Amino acid sequence: MVKWTRGRLAKYTVTVVCCAVTVLLTAFPTLLGGPLFSLEEHTYTSDGLLIVSPSGPHPIFELMQNAEASWNSKLARASKTLAEAVIEYKQRYKRAPPLGFDKWWEYVAEHNVQLPDEYDEIYHDLEPYWGLDPVDLARSVEELGTQDDIFTVVKTSSNSGLEIVNLTVHESDRTLRERVEAIINLTEEFGADLPPMRIQLSARDNPRMLTDWRIRDMALSAARHGTTIQQSHLLPVTKDGWIQACPPNSPARLDPPVLPSVDDSNPVLFNMSASKSFIVSHRAAMDPCYHPEILVSHGQFLSHRRGPLPQQMLVPLFSHCGTLLHHDIRPPIPYGWTSGDHSEVLGDVPWSEKADERLDWRGSPTGMYASPETLWMHAHRQRLVTLTNEIEGNTSVLRVPSDASSPVGEPLQLRMGRINPAWMDIAFSGKPMACEEDAGTCKLMEEKFEFRKMQGRKEEGRYKFILDVDGNGWSGRFKRLVTSNALILKMSVYPEWYTSRIAEWVHYVPIQVTYTDLYDVVAFFRDHDELAAKIAGAGKEWSQQFWRKEDMSAYLYRLLLEYARVMSVDRESMSYHG
Ligand SMILES: *[C@@H]1O[C@H](CO)[C@@H](O)[C@H](O)[C@H]1NC(C)=O
Ligand SMILES: *[C@@H]1O[C@H](CO)[C@@H](O)[C@H](O)[C@H]1NC(C)=O
Ligand SMILES: *[C@@H]1O[C@H](CO)[C@@H](O)[C@H](O)[C@H]1NC(C)=O
Ligand SMILES: *[C@@H]1O[C@H](CO)[C@@H](O)[C@H](O)[C@H]1NC(C)=O
Repeated sequence: MVKWTRGRLAKYTVTVVCCAVTVLLTAFPTLLGGPLFSLEEHTYTSDGLLIVSPSGPHPIFELMQNAEASWNSKLARASKTLAEAVIEYKQRYKRAPPLGFDKWWEYVAEHNVQLPDEYDEIYHDLEPYWGLDPVDLARSVEELGTQDDIFTVVKTSSNSGLEIVNLTVHESDRTLRERVEAIINLTEEFGADLPPMRIQLSARDNPRMLTDWRIRDMALSAARHGTTIQQSHLLPVTKDGWIQACPPNSPARLDPPVLPSVDDSNPVLFNMSASKSFIVSHRAAMDPCYHPEILVSHGQFLSHRRGPLPQQMLVPLFSHCGTLLHHDIRPPIPYGWTSGDHSEVLGDVPWSEKADERLDWRGSPTGMYASPETLWMHAHRQRLVTLTNEIEGNTSVLRVPSDASSPVGEPLQLRMGRINPAWMDIAFSGKPMACEEDAGTCKLMEEKFEFRKMQGRKEEGRYKFILDVDGNGWSGRFKRLVTSNALILKMSVYPEWYTSRIAEWVHYVPIQVTYTDLYDVVAFFRDHDELAAKIAGAGKEWSQQFWRKEDMSAYLYRLLLEYARVMSVDRESMSYHG
């Protein structure tokens, strides 16, 4: 196997000098004066990771502790009245809320939607459009309607809600239409109150709008100054590639990652012995500009190799998901939604009755198209299955102390032949798909990988630990899994509508795209059953309190008010002034 090292880390490392000791003292007050003071602090990097110091405690203790504290303070500082929400809005976004904010607040209050201030994902999606001329925007929305796989959804001043008025998708494809109808259905209660707007929604699983960093930067700067940039004044985009979406001084631009070669017959895996790290901020860890290895190890990016030509402008297209390199607007997607009622989730076995302590995953080889010309062998699902079924060689795993009072030490070398069969139950299921039959790629896939039976919900319910990974796009399974009483580990490059409304290490465990933290996480929670059960339980509770239909509706409601305003030629009159 070829291995990569995680290089260059040191350069982007900033040490957080403040709180580790304080947090430890709060967490384990009985240890005051004990061996605690001899423990070293871990290093927190600006790209969302914790770098392990062998002389510090096992980092998962402090990751959980810190995450819980900041989640609790987020809950505690949430606005309780419309007036408070308006103040908070102005503080965060430096302008008045959109027209209709009061009615939106009524909806939120009536349906007990929690965290009414935490909608930064909307800001991320829409803020750059404040720097563009609404006339240019209207024209690009018009043009979008003629591209392939687009639904045009419209609200006029006379109709009672959003309606699909046109589509460039095969009319026969009912499932795509139902997906869009399910989104529109989220507006049922307030559709009539929405201002007029025209939305183009992509029918595809993947985002489509690669950003040119230069243009986004100019737009954001114009937005800050209350001006707009003219499309006609922009130099055309000439360079292609994913990294055009990154700032000039980012690791991906300074040192672009090298693509694996097509004829490698095995996936390139990452070096598990290189310095140990864990995700602190899942969103930051999803950023390919600061984690360039994502560009050469995930199907979303590998499937277009170095990447396409960025858009000549910022184009407001709604999509089912987006990465941090795209500017697709992300509405909540009800696909795969479940209420979490016991009857609906057969896998809902109480923690104490879950017998299997291996990490479970079954899935199809989706993520990118497999042919002799593509780099499919190195995509995220292929790497996962290869890594966790290897029985040759060693891997390095952090020791698991019983508490945070002793140092974690140097990692142990453990034999793959022992830990993979004992810790991992990960395999493709069904049969080869998304592969070029005529070129023999499907046959190659069948030879390389074992395809097991699909798992039923009941079988899935036996596992304490379940992994959720991206497929062709975002994972539609997360809602079901996080509601199922299991501890969910999640690898993804797609921040979603709920990303700032959930807490990693409180409700689920984030895993790096490299999987270099996978064995350390599994080893830790196999030994700390009560902490695993705690996150599993908190995840289910979160799902039932923060990811109800009403929570998606409240998000979409606010997104649409913001969208209608930023697209309007008179943005001022579309603002709420109490
Ligand atoms: C629907 O889209 C097609 C393809 O772009 C276009 O020719 C047609 O005029 C559109 N119809 C409406 C009602 O907008
Ligand atoms: C949307 O709502 C309508 C009316 O309540 C319902 O008939 C339809 O099945 C729903 N569609 C989807 C895809 O949820
Ligand atoms: C993996 O990383 C370790 C520690 O940095 C290093 O000693 C080792 O040589 C690396 N292995 C490979 C195959 O690069
Ligand atoms: C693998 O680990 C075992 C101990 O678990 C050790 O005895 C052996 O020398 C290691 N092999 C290599 C190649 O590092």
